[in-house]
Amino acid sequence: MTIQHLDELEGLRRAGALVARILSTMREQASAGTTPSDLDAIGADMLRDAGAQSAPALTYGFPGATCISVNRVVAHGIPDATPLRDGDLVNIDVSAELDGFFADTGASFVVGTASAAQQRLLDATREARDAAIAQLRAGELLSGIGRTIETVAARRGLRIIRNLQSHGVGRALHEAPGSIPGYFDRRDTRRLHDGMVITVEPFLATHVTRTEDLDDGWSLICAKGYGAQFEHTVVVTHGAPIIVT
Ligand code: CO
Ligand code: CO
Repeated sequence: MTIQHLDELEGLRRAGALVARILSTMREQASAGTTPSDLDAIGADMLRDAGAQSAPALTYGFPGATCISVNRVVAHGIPDATPLRDGDLVNIDVSAELDGFFADTGASFVVGTASAAQQRLLDATREARDAAIAQLRAGELLSGIGRTIETVAARRGLRIIRNLQSHGVGRALHEAPGSIPGYFDRRDTRRLHDGMVITVEPFLATHVTRTEDLDDGWSLICAKGYGAQFEHTVVVTHGAPIIVT
């Protein structure tokens, strides 16, 4: 969506604050022995209490309130009853509809203590997201997002998962301006404009540049190594972007 009125920004901010609060609560509860199903139940309760709906369930019929992806699953993991263990790399992605506004956020983390390689992947992926957000300005090319992510990934010696992309959001989970590559595409002439609402969500990986489908119909996996994602929903302006999550 493109925000034109202050009440739209306030509506989006409420949705953003909700998914941010759910993500941080679920993350705090994630420890060895807890299960993704337990965590998802926390998210489902918080959504219901707020009068919100899970965006992936609403939009795609996803079989969970939130996506919880563990180890080789990097995205769209179905929350299951397998207890988490120390050293598991977990991604929680929370997106919701509240009063007609959609916001989307996600983060990867390690249960217990991260290995040095895991920590490098987490740090680089968060750095890529934050750098890509920092350069957003109305009037500039949308491909600056992919260009910035590529620069960080190259400097950190990591790959970009090319089939998982950022996207427009706001009045629907996935909307105009469509998918936004995490790599630099020089043919992409789309420009950012004032009030445009998008996600910025790099997926970096240690080995692969594409995910493969698991046979559950949802989970996207890295055939080798690990992948991570950090995501915010942001509003583009002529100055610093507004992060609503
Ligand atoms: Co997301
Ligand atoms: Co997203």
